[in-house]
Amino acid sequence: MILVLVGPPGAGKGTQADMLVSRKGFRTLSTGDALRKHIKNRTDIGKVVADIMGRGELVPDDVLFKILEEELGTDKEEVVLLDGYPRNVEQAKTLSAIGTKNPVMGVVHVDVPKEMLVERLSGRRTCGSCSATFHVVTNPPQKNGVCDRCGEVLVQRPDDSEDKVQKRLEVYETSTEPVLSYYKNTNAYFRVDGVGTTDEVYTRLEDVVSGLLR
Ligand code: AP5
Repeated sequence: MILVLVGPPGAGKGTQADMLVSRKGFRTLSTGDALRKHIKNRTDIGKVVADIMGRGELVPDDVLFKILEEELGTDKEEVVLLDGYPRNVEQAKTLSAIGTKNPVMGVVHVDVPKEMLVERLSGRRTCGSCSATFHVVTNPPQKNGVCDRCGEVLVQRPDDSEDKVQKRLEVYETSTEPVLSYYKNTNAYFRVDGVGTTDEVYTRLEDVVSGLLR
């Protein structure tokens, strides 16, 4: 079963996915992390997507479909958190089409006002090795610049610079907001207020997830 987390860049999808993984034992598939792994390993996919992601644009749908095919699995009992997909209506239709193998149990929209997103993204620091994320103010690592989880150096993602964030927000508005309308007409859509501490947001999200699993 698939639980989709959708929301603007910096809404906290990855943070909440990590919390659901550690507290509920779900598996997560972050398409952004999967693509960054391809770039790091210099695969054919990595070579195609590096510049596109660096510009803050969307990677072609067929590349994402390959990643989904490779990593989604077909175990209907397992809950897979899909973080970062679908990003446009075509991708949402693809997900519906593969629903017989792996049905979508819910689509949770993590909603955060735009003015907060730039602050969250400019302060984000990410581990290039295990993908853990921190924030210099709201969630600093114990040792400055070092990942609490694996001890590697923390870096700023190249697409977290202010101009790239603006571009990603534009792309979200034009391509991903229509995905929300696509799901709003179904009973799979849930909105969660993404403002507050990570624990407060988690409590709201957990409410939705518990309802879906009941
Ligand atoms: P991706 O990696 O998916 O990036 P994104 O959607 O832009 O989302 P982010 O990872 O930036 O934010 P998040 O919501 O996970 O926030 P986080 O939890 O880290 O995609 C990157 C690129 O890959 C795309 O631009 C595109 O090129 C490509 N791509 C990926 N999927 C694709 C697809 N399906 N189709 C085409 N292209 C695709 O939190 C952010 C910060 O805020 C952190 O520092 C965190 O500590 C902090 N924070 C979190 N929650 C809170 C809180 N409640 N209060 C205060 N601070 C908080």
